[in-house]
Amino acid sequence: MSTAVPLRGEALCRGFGEAGTRTEVLRGLDLEIPAGQITVVTGRSGAGKTTLVNLLSGLDRPDSGRVVLDGEDLHLLPEPELLEIRRRRLGLVFQDFGLIPVLTAAENIEVPLRLLSAPTGERTERVRELLDRMGLARHGGHRPGELSGGQQQRVGIARALAASPGIILADEPTAQLDADTAASVMDLIRELTFEQGLATLVTTHDPLVVERADRVLELHHQANRPA
Ligand SMILES: Nc1ncnc2c1ncn2[C@@H]1O[C@H](COP(=O)(O)OP(=O)(O)OP(=O)(O)O)[C@@H](O)[C@H]1O
Ligand SMILES: [Mg+2]
Repeated sequence: MSTAVPLRGEALCRGFGEAGTRTEVLRGLDLEIPAGQITVVTGRSGAGKTTLVNLLSGLDRPDSGRVVLDGEDLHLLPEPELLEIRRRRLGLVFQDFGLIPVLTAAENIEVPLRLLSAPTGERTERVRELLDRMGLARHGGHRPGELSGGQQQRVGIARALAASPGIILADEPTAQLDADTAASVMDLIRELTFEQGLATLVTTHDPLVVERADRVLELHHQANRPA
């Protein structure tokens, strides 16, 4: 197993609101997302899980502290480079799946490859490979509305992996799934993490996700600490 750490947060601070009513959500958080492992961030609603994912994915900036991706401070990169590195290195998986309803499963998976201007043949081959791997070979032509929640999330995972980003950030990926489906989606994320040496971060409230973690970080103490 690789011990490389492609993504880390160092002394991350992020708060919201004006002075007086301000809430400091993250206060000096350090974490590492090592390759070949699932790092689970847990904590109740409002603990700061999504806030953390937004910082690590470059969607939001920390008030202080650093996000280090492949040795570079993510937030010091100029905007075009930040966008490029996010597309190439980060695969995002969402609670509500985040699929485009008018596109088929195959077309949804292809989106990141189009954004990177991958050649048509390469895109088609990669999409077919991912549909097979996700057990969706017969569903490539279906729109999200024609798929079950578990199938939609497998499309979401395939899309996240399409550009071979190496790092997966999944914010409560099982929250909308029943227990059996959630378990199978997490088992799939686990297999992919080991097979491909992915650096995987999953946030959750769900004990069955925590059970499948290699490392667990609890956030609620941070959020609940008095100002
Ligand atoms: N853009 C924002 N503006 C103001 N407050 C925000 C913003 N984003 C998050 N917060 C606040 O920060 C705190 C943490 O929110 P966050 O969404 O990170 O929690 P969470 O752990 O993801 O919760 P959940 O389990 O419900 O998804 C909450 O109190 C929330 O209201
Ligand atoms: Mg959240």
